[in-house]
Amino acid sequence: MSEAPPKFKTLSRLRQTAGLRRLFAETRLHAADLVLPVFFAEQDSDAGPIEALPGVSRHTISEAGDIARRAHDAGIGGVIAFGVPANKDAQGTAASTADGATANALRAMRAAAPDLALMADVCLCQYTDHGHCTIFDGTTRNLPATLDRYAEAAVTYAEAGADVVAPSGMIDGQVAAIRAGLDRANHAHTALLSYAVKHASAWYGPFRDAAGSTPAFGDRRTHQMPAGNAREAIREALQDEAEGADALMVKPAGTNLDTLARLTDASDLPLAAYQVSGEYASIRHLAAASGDSERDLLLESLMAIRRAGASVILTYGALDAAGWLANQA
Ligand code: PBG
Ligand code: ZN
Repeated sequence: MSEAPPKFKTLSRLRQTAGLRRLFAETRLHAADLVLPVFFAEQDSDAGPIEALPGVSRHTISEAGDIARRAHDAGIGGVIAFGVPANKDAQGTAASTADGATANALRAMRAAAPDLALMADVCLCQYTDHGHCTIFDGTTRNLPATLDRYAEAAVTYAEAGADVVAPSGMIDGQVAAIRAGLDRANHAHTALLSYAVKHASAWYGPFRDAAGSTPAFGDRRTHQMPAGNAREAIREALQDEAEGADALMVKPAGTNLDTLARLTDASDLPLAAYQVSGEYASIRHLAAASGDSERDLLLESLMAIRRAGASVILTYGALDAAGWLANQA
């Protein structure tokens, strides 16, 4: 008498063909989910490849139109602009000047791609000569002055064509201050994507190289979140929702999949996640060192972020991923 095959050995039935795997896929990645971070240098001499971030360059303002068209043609969801100013000062003045790097890049992209979703990061660390996200009074952070400058910068970017402003400084009250500033300036329709859960992280290294924003002293641990705090992340997110955020971001993405999953339940706002510079660089380095497929490494990492709950993913690999997704079986 032969034994009946055990009933539990059947999970692979739905994996037997590419067609079945595609049909029963729980998570799908689309180019439209992806947002490309782009660095724009105010002076052309600062443009060029970023050594710490393989495959990524600082661009001139004159390249902005082309980049926007390329993003649009690739079908990606949008672009987030980071300005690299020619001059820095203690107050981060260049963050809010109407003909600064970010504003000029936004105007050129808006003109070239009217329908492309345009975002602008709002912070001061690229613009301050000390590399901090805040203005100081002596050795004390001047938070009211910082919030005023954030709001001013957000209004400048809205006027230059940003659909979405994304405050990344993790300064208490920044969402409310920016929302109020936008509304006062008659930009009630400019959306606010808050970097609500941003950990003090070692994975931002290549970005700070790219943007020249490494703090000259101290660090960001007094305002960015400790990496181990997951319950506090929910409080941060709900606070930003209460202050008027339209969407919430979690960052770094790959080290915070649990937080993305929890936020899916804790908030009804759209969720974004930022695959940060160190995460992207590590994929590139692994692919280069091992010969493993960069395509597979990148798409799997993005799939995991999507599966955890992010509907929008910021990644330096957005254009490559869009190309691979368009050609996949
Ligand atoms: C600015 C900002 C940072 C990143 C996005 N906006 C750097 C930081 O907080 O030090 C990091 C993005 C990345 O590493 O790709 N506040
Ligand atoms: Zn900053």
